Amino acid sequence: MHVALTGATGFLGLRLLRCLLDTHRSVTVLVHAGSGDALHRITRFFALTGAPGAFVAELPSRLRVVETELEQPGLGLSGRVFQELADGLGAIWHSAGSINLEGDLPELRRTNVEGTRHVLELAAAGRERPVVHHVSTAFVAGSRREGVAYEDELDDTYGFENAYERSKFEAEVLIHAWSQEHRRPVVVLRPSILVTDLPPHPELPSHPLQVIERILRDARRTACPGSPGHDGDGPDGRRGADPGGRPRVRLVGHPHGRLNLLQVEHAAEVMVRLAGRTPSGEVDTYHVVHDSDVPVPTIVSLLEQLVDLSIDLVTAEPDDPSELETLMDFYPGLTTYLTHRRRFDDTRVRALFGSSAASDRVDLDYLRSGLVRRDRVPVGPSPIAARYA
Ligand SMILES: NC(=O)c1ccc[n+]([C@@H]2O[C@H](COP(=O)([O-])OP(=O)(O)OC[C@H]3O[C@@H](n4cnc5c(N)ncnc54)[C@H](OP(=O)(O)O)[C@@H]3O)[C@@H](O)[C@H]2O)c1
Repeated sequence: MHVALTGATGFLGLRLLRCLLDTHRSVTVLVHAGSGDALHRITRFFALTGAPGAFVAELPSRLRVVETELEQPGLGLSGRVFQELADGLGAIWHSAGSINLEGDLPELRRTNVEGTRHVLELAAAGRERPVVHHVSTAFVAGSRREGVAYEDELDDTYGFENAYERSKFEAEVLIHAWSQEHRRPVVVLRPSILVTDLPPHPELPSHPLQVIERILRDARRTACPGSPGHDGDGPDGRRGADPGGRPRVRLVGHPHGRLNLLQVEHAAEVMVRLAGRTPSGEVDTYHVVHDSDVPVPTIVSLLEQLVDLSIDLVTAEPDDPSELETLMDFYPGLTTYLTHRRRFDDTRVRALFGSSAASDRVDLDYLRSGLVRRDRVPVGPSPIAARYA
């Protein structure tokens, strides 16, 4: 069965591609038209993460690269190419999307909702009725901050923390309608926040925590030029710096908050295992999550260490924000998530795979490793490099 994958150059897509290449001689990668040499980026990922030379050398012959534009009807392909592509597929993995937590809704809808619509049209056109594996997010649960989010739930009662979440929710709603209308199975995979301990590298895609760290660092640099010593504070300087000279900031968050973070490599493996199951014929939805959440204070310690700040969790937005606090607050993905205490139920995944669905610990050391830039990616100890040993 031939498979196609969208988003193969992305943080998750590259790991999905690795897993798919374990079981498929070739994969069609539907890459983002005009966004740079995808084959080169994919090859560099595998070379940098320790794949054997022979595997890397074979990639051009194992990957069929098709340039697509998710936002365009027919994925921007001619009618003939679109039909030929559709007819050659037994399964379509849809991992492409925009994960821009700052994006506005129309822009995110174009990529995440219209993009999904066009992928579904490709599936509908295929002679072999390809199964769709759609990568969603556990965060379609939206602004439900406490309690348990279940795999079967899909509702907008609680609203959403940002337009990204809403766009992913709308994409899932579209999938349900399509599945019913066409009587076709779809597997919806909902990972939590994906992380790695592979250090950042200019040629590797970044991940959400890296983006947050970068934003905090930029805010600190802007508000505290030439620090240490400059407290970057509001006019009265009341909240200054901590005894170590680190700028102090107040962030809205819950001291008993927790977030679900999962190793991206593990997430990809679980997703590909799930895709190997015979689908029910309707929409099968799975939470692909870690069995233990990371406490918010651990995330706070991580950010304090990385950005050299002192963070106080507070219950409400301060009404006298410092310049630094104002700069940090514009990022909707950060402060709201530090208040979350919900749990994602993944009974379906655990019922299928038992303890083999469990992954290693995600702790402060693991997270720090994935955020501290080093001169080059270590090939030895990283989990992905170990895969090729
Ligand atoms: N990362 C997470 O923590 C996380 C958590 C839960 C769910 N997810 C979901 O997982 C999926 C993959 O996320 P990711 O972390 O791999 O994101 P990513 O690193 O930002 O990668 C996004 C991928 O989508 C492609 N793409 C974006 N816009 C496109 C367009 N208009 N046309 C064609 N391709 C386009 C990108 O291609 P270019 O690079 O060439 O632009 C890239 O390959 C998304 O659906 C996301 O919602 C991610």
